[in-house]
Amino acid sequence: MNNKKYTITAALPYANGPLHIGHISGAYLPADIYARYRKLNQDDVVFVCGSDEHGAAITLRAKKDGVTPQEVVDRYHEQNKTSFSEFGIDFDIYHRTSDDLHHKTAQDFFQNLEDKNCFVQKTSEQYFDEDYQQFLADRYIKGQCPKCAYEHAYGDQCEKCGSALSPSDLVDPISTLSGKKPIYKQTKHWYLPMQKHESWLKDWIEKGILDGISKHDPKKWRSQVLGQCKSWIDSGLRERAMTRDLDWGVKVPSDENKVLYVWLDAPIGYISATKQWALDNNKKWQDYWKNDAELIHFIGKDNIVFHAIIFPILLKAHEGFVLPKNVPANEFLNLEGQKLSTSRNWAIWLHEYLEDFPGQQDVMRYVLCATAPESKDTDFTWKDFQTRNNSELVAIFGNFINRVVVLTNKYWNGEVPEINEKSQNDVEILASLEDAPKKIAELIESFKLREAQNELINLARSGNKYLADEEPWKLIKTDLKRTETIMNIALQIASALSVLAIPFLPFTAQKLSKMLNVESADWNKIPSLCKGHKIEKASLLFSKIEDDQIELQIQKLNQNK
Ligand code: 2FM
Ligand code: ZN
Repeated sequence: MNNKKYTITAALPYANGPLHIGHISGAYLPADIYARYRKLNQDDVVFVCGSDEHGAAITLRAKKDGVTPQEVVDRYHEQNKTSFSEFGIDFDIYHRTSDDLHHKTAQDFFQNLEDKNCFVQKTSEQYFDEDYQQFLADRYIKGQCPKCAYEHAYGDQCEKCGSALSPSDLVDPISTLSGKKPIYKQTKHWYLPMQKHESWLKDWIEKGILDGISKHDPKKWRSQVLGQCKSWIDSGLRERAMTRDLDWGVKVPSDENKVLYVWLDAPIGYISATKQWALDNNKKWQDYWKNDAELIHFIGKDNIVFHAIIFPILLKAHEGFVLPKNVPANEFLNLEGQKLSTSRNWAIWLHEYLEDFPGQQDVMRYVLCATAPESKDTDFTWKDFQTRNNSELVAIFGNFINRVVVLTNKYWNGEVPEINEKSQNDVEILASLEDAPKKIAELIESFKLREAQNELINLARSGNKYLADEEPWKLIKTDLKRTETIMNIALQIASALSVLAIPFLPFTAQKLSKMLNVESADWNKIPSLCKGHKIEKASLLFSKIEDDQIELQIQKLNQNK
């Protein structure tokens, strides 16, 4: 194993509802592809995630359902953990922020910053709902976004333009509890004076330089991530409250009646998750958060400022922690031309997909990666899903493997034939086969996962074309030696696919390596199939998706209109 440590995080989803394809496409699938690749590359990786169980997202949901916040998080923590695992999102740990270890970690973190005078305590007027006798922060208050005029911006953020807000920024605010106009009332809070961090933050984000040392190459950061950070910094960093008047959350160490702001507590959840994983696996968590560990945060675009500005300020203030090497945030995925919406049920729920398309996780993974919103919002349509399955996975990948395995069984009883004299075409295809791992690796390492997956399918496509050009099924009658060479080469391509497909199509890769009787756990050691190596009988990797299956899904969606 390489010494280099990688801490790969995927945004902790709120445990307030099930997961849909927008979540998967935004953070979890790209993180999983990257983590799987890193592990195959023999890097020392921890891939962490877990439930975000605090904040108004949870308490408001509990209120709506008439249950306790604890009941909400217990239910969705389990459900989401299961959905991720069934979908092949292979976290090393799926932790939760209600865990004692997390409460202690977050409190210690807060205390450490408090001891270093990183916060200022201030009493100020804040919005208060008289009917509910509650202060209103974050999602407890709604109003018009001062930046883009969106009518339903929350007190902490506008979901339309991604701006981070304070309740006092909202135009015409109303309480989401009573629907009434709030009054002002005094309360004391701990604030993070972000403006004090502006100078180093600017250098670190825009030039990649921290304390005179080069930490990352800003050219490798996505332009929309840099853009959001720059516009946030340019519009002036301000103090931001790090505590809340709520009773659900991590208690402020010195004040029983207040809790930590959920956006302070949640990213610390990555650290708690690493600690728990380290305890369970006899590792040192510090190795993954200090020195030259590489920290990568996979998130959706609405989380950019929290991961690229606020959390880095906190990590640096605490001292000793690495800052993220990259924050490859995705834009949003739409569904059939409209914004995904939980409240309107305009979504494809992961658990329902798994029921409707059993065993077809890789099809959805493939389509979501092929349409990943890496640089702009993209659209998922069921028709495109069907086309990509039928004309790419079935017709290219599946067809190639099927031909190779069927012919090997038919002509040589499942034993890999010998490679004899090579033609120019053979030499060329072997050269491109040799290049493939490096080419795909470079794309993954630059977070161009769509292109990376496209290269994978191109490899299968070139294998398919090779067979179509060489026609071994005809040559077998006249030139046995030549047929042996062609099929040997085709088998080597199949073997490469069984390894290179792992990050993208892990279930398929496993079936394929069983079919080929190979163990594949090292990106840089593609098993070479020697003469006489026995393979198994063919079984289908993908199956055609029929029109009626797609129509049913479209109908199901339109019922919610
Ligand atoms: O936006 C969200 O769904 C948040 N729960 C993400 C938190 S990411 C991290 F900070 F934990
Ligand atoms: Zn806005």
